[in-house]
Amino acid sequence: MTQPDFNALYADHLATMKRRADEALSRGGFDHLVVPSGTQHYQVFDDRDYPYAVNPQFKAWLPLTRVPYSWLVHTPGQRPQVIFYQPFDYWHVVPDAPSGWWVEHFDIHIIRKPEEALALLPKPAARCATLGEPQSALGDYAPNNPAAVVDYLEYQRSYKTPYEIALMRQAQHLAVRGHRAAEAAFREGKSEFAIHMAYCSAVGQDLGELPYNNIVALNEHGAVLHYTELGRTAPTPSRSFLIDAGASFHGYASDITRTYAADKSGEFQAMIDAVDRAQIEMGKGVRAGVDYKQLHIDAHLALMGILKDFGVIRVSPEAALETGVSAAFFPHGLGHPIGLQVHDVAGFAESDRGGKIPRPPGHPYLRMTRVLEPGMVVTIEPGLYFIDMLLDEVKKNGHADSVDWARVESFRPYGGIRIEDEVMCTQGDADNLTRPAFAAAA
Ligand code: GLY
Ligand code: MN
Ligand code: MN
Repeated sequence: MTQPDFNALYADHLATMKRRADEALSRGGFDHLVVPSGTQHYQVFDDRDYPYAVNPQFKAWLPLTRVPYSWLVHTPGQRPQVIFYQPFDYWHVVPDAPSGWWVEHFDIHIIRKPEEALALLPKPAARCATLGEPQSALGDYAPNNPAAVVDYLEYQRSYKTPYEIALMRQAQHLAVRGHRAAEAAFREGKSEFAIHMAYCSAVGQDLGELPYNNIVALNEHGAVLHYTELGRTAPTPSRSFLIDAGASFHGYASDITRTYAADKSGEFQAMIDAVDRAQIEMGKGVRAGVDYKQLHIDAHLALMGILKDFGVIRVSPEAALETGVSAAFFPHGLGHPIGLQVHDVAGFAESDRGGKIPRPPGHPYLRMTRVLEPGMVVTIEPGLYFIDMLLDEVKKNGHADSVDWARVESFRPYGGIRIEDEVMCTQGDADNLTRPAFAAAA
């Protein structure tokens, strides 16, 4: 894959970050923005670290995901500073000396011990908005996470810069490599674990770097929404395969789901095709001014239309939505914002001064309630599942007649279907970031 000119894109991104920080500081009444990259933590009664997770507020500025005990400092009107932790250490590989498209824009101070940062941080600490986890506290610099500052910055993170979009597109290409390898492994009859390994190997990332735990589900396991068990033995037969797996690129996530049938001429494949067509249409709904809540409700109706066509439900899509039957088959939200975090911030934000837009009643898992605007990137991930626990509820709630249970039985062994892409809202048509990556890898 050819790489865009990240150097040029980054300069504009940094200018945007500085502007946002200036406004955030003025709202909070602070003089400096101070962002620790985060620290490493021991596991309880042990001397092993939890996997290090960089502070998202830090990687928003810098494409650095592996430098704990470092700091970003921004003071309006001044050149930004990076305090870069590069210890003398023969136990671990230490971070490489700073390099890449970001270095020319910062004054960089190398420190060898975490506490050396104290002398370099702006004074007094009380004039700093310090954004981070409590464990990053150093001397007087305990993260205070002022709401006015955090609310503003998180809200603005909804609007991805061209630099961020370029990184997110690369994260799509990486994940698609894995998805191709995983499908091939499924068709060879491999176990979930072996498929997972094929995915990680093709992407070149494992749990430490992937944006979330891979969901690799064969047969009925597709009905467990967050199935992360990775069975070591392949089922016989291996009928169906649901994979929800992403990749990271300089701290930006992709989050992609595909579902496959072993029998490409069977009814389950036909249902996958129907969900796939519907998903593409839903993605086209990602347009400026559209309420994501409405997209979610429309997705219920479209999915129930598919179940009606396949004879699984006996009532209209509207009736299925009304009675809660649709929520038994599609029990999660249509999607969420994505960017530096797989479930990115501000999905419910009412404004850049706080406030929360509630979920529609009856839809407790929706993670995005805002009206779409250019620059936002969301996932579109409709699904249809055959989940015993939820279908039992349908029976108990007096809606058993709405469902053809023999048809449910015929689909149960396949688990479920989910198709998930990232879609960017623009001034015009929706920009699906995921589909072109699959097309390019075909
Ligand atoms: N992979 C988690 C999600 O789709 O939200
Ligand atoms: Mn998702
Ligand atoms: Mn996903």
